[in-house]
Amino acid sequence: MTTHGTPDGAHTPMNDEHGSTAVRLDQGHIQGTGGIPAQFQNPGLPPHVERMSDIDPKAAKRAELQVASMFILSILGSLACLVAYFVIPTHQQIWIPAIENGNLSHLAIGLTLAISTFFIGAGAVHWAKTLMPDQEVVEERHPLHSTPEERQAFARALAEGDAAAQLSRRPLLKMTLAGALGLFAIPPIVQLVGGLGPLPGDDLSTTFWDSKYWTNGKAPRLMRDPEMTPIKASDVTIGSVFHVLPEGIMDSEHPLDEKGKAAVLLMRLHPDQIKSQKERDWGYHGIVAYSKICTHVGCPVGLYEQTTHHLLCPCHQSTFDVTDDCKVIFGPAHRPLPQLKIAVDAEGYLIAEHGFAEAVGPSFWERG
Ligand code: FES
Repeated sequence: MTTHGTPDGAHTPMNDEHGSTAVRLDQGHIQGTGGIPAQFQNPGLPPHVERMSDIDPKAAKRAELQVASMFILSILGSLACLVAYFVIPTHQQIWIPAIENGNLSHLAIGLTLAISTFFIGAGAVHWAKTLMPDQEVVEERHPLHSTPEERQAFARALAEGDAAAQLSRRPLLKMTLAGALGLFAIPPIVQLVGGLGPLPGDDLSTTFWDSKYWTNGKAPRLMRDPEMTPIKASDVTIGSVFHVLPEGIMDSEHPLDEKGKAAVLLMRLHPDQIKSQKERDWGYHGIVAYSKICTHVGCPVGLYEQTTHHLLCPCHQSTFDVTDDCKVIFGPAHRPLPQLKIAVDAEGYLIAEHGFAEAVGPSFWERG
């Protein structure tokens, strides 16, 4: 048996093909009518339980002070974050179990930001749970398009919500919340502006290939990365590509920083394929070495197309022509990859005769 809703909302129980009794619940007013089993009837909302802060003004004041304290802790967290950012040197290390060498500046900024974020959230939750109205109400479903009356009602509800939040009645909460939110925004802004880091100046003009880093005045050999073994000219066959670093770089004071600037790609072309005299002069029997750092924004140029002799940067697809001074033939980079002048030493190993003639890596700050 099933019931069918009629235009006046009544339900007619009906037998289905299996002879069982069923009730359609999707039409008309079903509560308490139409033979609905008791377990399916709407139980309604549970009775509202008053909180201490609803009935005791002292409890409400206590809750207000607790919320304000959390906002103040958030303010302190934001201030401490700013202090950590400006006062702690970025390279200062701290011993942390399991990690061993942690960065004190990062740790302090992370912890203070966590405190600031946690207490602003905890304050808001505590405020909502103790001071804002917690009575559940049922709202009937209605057509999506709002009538003018409904819009007015919405505006009224907003105003009532504003009153219920008690901001005007509780200036302490208003002030501490404004302070917490205001200061919360400052550390990310400061870090965004300051965290972009200083301009490199002439830092990218000097790499570990330069003569000031040579040991005993000896030009550095080109070493395979990561094995750090020297490369003979005869090892470099046409079509092959080597990732190369200068000899001795791993013994430098900041090897990672130095590797980031000095990485080089080594390839061999047929000498007839080389279009520029300078490239021929700076290479060795068709072997050429170019900086691996893209001149767009500094990604490592990682893809070498053997057939076209193009180097491709995977970040934004800048493409450099190895046969023509590594000039840019496609993409956003604006200048060729700097070439490293190479030769061979008495034992046949490839060496760098001097450092790069121009700065490696991105150059957008130079163009202004
Ligand atoms: S960094 Fe290489 S194309 Fe953008």
